[in-house]
Amino acid sequence: MTFTLAQRAHKMNPSVIREILKVTEKPGIISFAGGLPSADTFPIEAMQAACAQVLGQDGKAALQYAASEGYGPLRDWVAQELQQQGMRVGADQVLITTGSQQGLDLVAKVLIDAGSRVLVETPTYLGALQAFAPMEPVIEGVASDDQGVLPDALRAQAAGARFAYLLPNFQNPTGRTMSEARRAAVAQVAIDTGLPLIEDNPYGDLWFDQAPPPALASRHPEGTLYLGSFSKILAPGLRLGYVVAPRALYPKLLQAKQAADLHTPSFNQRVVAEVLKDGFLQRHVPTIRARYQAQCQAMLGALEQAFGHSGQGGDDSLAWNRPAGGMFLWTRLPAGLNAVDLLPLAVEHNVAFVPGSAFYAAEPDPRSMRLSFVTPSVAEIERGVVALAQAIALAQERSRAPATA
Ligand SMILES: Cc1ncc(COP(=O)(O)O)c(C=O)c1O
Repeated sequence: MTFTLAQRAHKMNPSVIREILKVTEKPGIISFAGGLPSADTFPIEAMQAACAQVLGQDGKAALQYAASEGYGPLRDWVAQELQQQGMRVGADQVLITTGSQQGLDLVAKVLIDAGSRVLVETPTYLGALQAFAPMEPVIEGVASDDQGVLPDALRAQAAGARFAYLLPNFQNPTGRTMSEARRAAVAQVAIDTGLPLIEDNPYGDLWFDQAPPPALASRHPEGTLYLGSFSKILAPGLRLGYVVAPRALYPKLLQAKQAADLHTPSFNQRVVAEVLKDGFLQRHVPTIRARYQAQCQAMLGALEQAFGHSGQGGDDSLAWNRPAGGMFLWTRLPAGLNAVDLLPLAVEHNVAFVPGSAFYAAEPDPRSMRLSFVTPSVAEIERGVVALAQAIALAQERSRAPATA
């Protein structure tokens, strides 16, 4: 029996990260590869109490089919929360999704035809590339620096593109953040050129010292689709996210959502709405920030100790950035090394990372590497960085050694 695959199925690829995570399952390995939040931050007691409350009070409704738009009180909460952050959002614009990953899938279905041009940051979130690819777009990377896309480059590529997909806060994979001035310039390009924006913000609450500037959506609400998530501030296993859509686009996203899964699990939505009551996140999120900040500091300190500089040590050394929040740090290997080739050697030294090339729409930087600092403990981070430095030194030695016959 042969199945003839649809054209779009050929565009679906296994996630490089999931493949790498298999390697990291080797016992004893310290993994900087995963993008998973720290399970120690999951609010298990609050969830337990909320589950009992929902089942006790609302059990029948919580286990029944429900509205595709999402659970009313949760949509209200999202709208209010975003209003406090300066966005003009009505609850009628909020579509609760099964993770923000589903938001990306719905956006792809509603906005991309085969051959449509889609603009992304360089590099960008791999899961977005995976969500867009089956719709067969031409995905174009826009030149970017340590603050995200360059406004002039965006302007030059904007004409005719279906949208630009942007991650202004503590971006996955680089950890970088768009400054206020950059946001203003990017929003102006979108307004001038009529370029729709997809703003993906799962990490915005995870700042260390200072909240990031207001969302692009607050500058350009009619032209921006905003994606949020509960994965990094509560727990990813809930699969709860949301899309805030301009009213003109909302019905189409809703139809796509109905076709995809009718609605996001009612039980999870009600439990989370219950947990969020009474300002729970105001107490909970600061504990996540403090933990991730300490872990980020530990990684930066260990890198400084291992490489003898604070991030920019010249072409012969590892380079890294200093994220102001989120879960990731972006690094660049010394000249002559390649992150894909380094990985097996690193795994031999019991440490793993994600080669950065997975995150590029085109022309990857083979020296780039993503390090996550949130799942290992501080002690593991310190040991992992030492192991990584040893693997890099060995790879450098080998690359310098004259080839033997
Ligand atoms: C940038 C970005 N967008 C979206 C997602 C998907 O998150 P969710 O768990 O809400 O589907 C992730 C997950 O890591 C992410 O890094």
